[in-house]
Amino acid sequence: MGARALAPRRPWEDTTIVLGVTGGIAAYKVVQVARDLTRLGARVEVVPTDAAARFVGPLSFEGVTGRPVHQSPWSARGAALHVRLAREADLVLVAPATADLLARAAQGRADDLLTTVLLATSAPVLLAPAMNHRMWAHPQVRANARHCTEVLGHHLVGPDAGPLAVGEGEGAGRMVEPQDLVEWTGAYLGRTEPWAGRRVIVTAGPTREPLDPIRFVSNRSSGRMGFAIAREAWLRGAEVTLVTGPSTLPDPVGVETVRVGSAQEMLEATRPRVATADVVVYAAAVSDYRSASPADQKIRKSDQGARLKLEMEETPDIARETAAARPSSAVAVGFALETRELEERAGEKLKEKGFHLIAANPAGEEGAGFEVATNRVLLLDRWGGREELPTLPKDQVAVRLLDRVGTWLAEGLPDTAEMGS
Ligand code: C5P
Repeated sequence: MGARALAPRRPWEDTTIVLGVTGGIAAYKVVQVARDLTRLGARVEVVPTDAAARFVGPLSFEGVTGRPVHQSPWSARGAALHVRLAREADLVLVAPATADLLARAAQGRADDLLTTVLLATSAPVLLAPAMNHRMWAHPQVRANARHCTEVLGHHLVGPDAGPLAVGEGEGAGRMVEPQDLVEWTGAYLGRTEPWAGRRVIVTAGPTREPLDPIRFVSNRSSGRMGFAIAREAWLRGAEVTLVTGPSTLPDPVGVETVRVGSAQEMLEATRPRVATADVVVYAAAVSDYRSASPADQKIRKSDQGARLKLEMEETPDIARETAAARPSSAVAVGFALETRELEERAGEKLKEKGFHLIAANPAGEEGAGFEVATNRVLLLDRWGGREELPTLPKDQVAVRLLDRVGTWLAEGLPDTAEMGS
């Protein structure tokens, strides 16, 4: 499933998630969330409100988590259950969060187990509101939601716009989809120094250079490598912008995704954004050439005859053209896909294009490069560092690549005087 795959980036064992469920129709979707979080290795403690239990029976949650659900603060299973759950939680996710839950949380009420846990925990709290769009638009609901974020420091995920429950029409109020809630949970659990709050820009995908209104020149890039890097940076807590050429992959959750066509458009979308970047990853497979004079009208065989001559010109080099706009502390990462002399050519590009790190990958090798889910890369840095990675899924390549970049974010780039010339 590409960018939305649920593959764990690191094991979630030793992680306890308190999953609060309140009484909205979206509660049925949260069984899937409980299942996915459990599958990823987390211990999921489900705390449904009384109203939630009317929508989904506790047995459904017990079936997918393999654990008893906690419904009553007066449980015989242990005194001060709320304190134990609150203390053990690495994260509390409330999904769906009804208008009533937002009101009770905002007021600091402790009239059931879930609100009591919310008062007693110091773990991050994610609220996924779901309600009728008129309710979500109500000023009091908005004030409660604002209080939850601004005063209590909770995080709101959604709601999304879209079709609401039967008869309720369309509008903002729909709970974020279960697989996206799992992604958001991962992002809050994975927020780590030195990535939290850093600005990361990633270019990805191919570009399309028009020949006429119908045809274009492009390449086989799927965008997978760049999408995986953007997702991984977001999962570590970065604010990520992905500038991508045409790709069939869905926008990664939480990532600002800007879709462009040509190299020129990619340059225009990238240049203003790199000025505030901490990390720029140039993973796009930009077309090197474009038509020098794209036709306004469709090129016809009847006009051209048996041969068509096209004059091509160079496209802008996005890495080069944005180098000056990058802050001097920003880490720049490039890619080099080569069919021969991989290491030599990658080493040259590392210097010529002003990268600090380059990921070189062989073209035409099975399990590496374009159109496949895995990659085999050689990492070369400006200070002579060299690391050969085995063939790995692209999301794992992203993990290894960002681990390297993370060291420079934490410690600053090494002295540039020591850079290879
Ligand atoms: O195409 P080439 O092998 O020179 O690409 C190496 C690096 O430069 C890649 O990181 C690629 O994203 C970047 N590049 C670019 N703009 C181009 C061509 C390449 O940013 N027009």
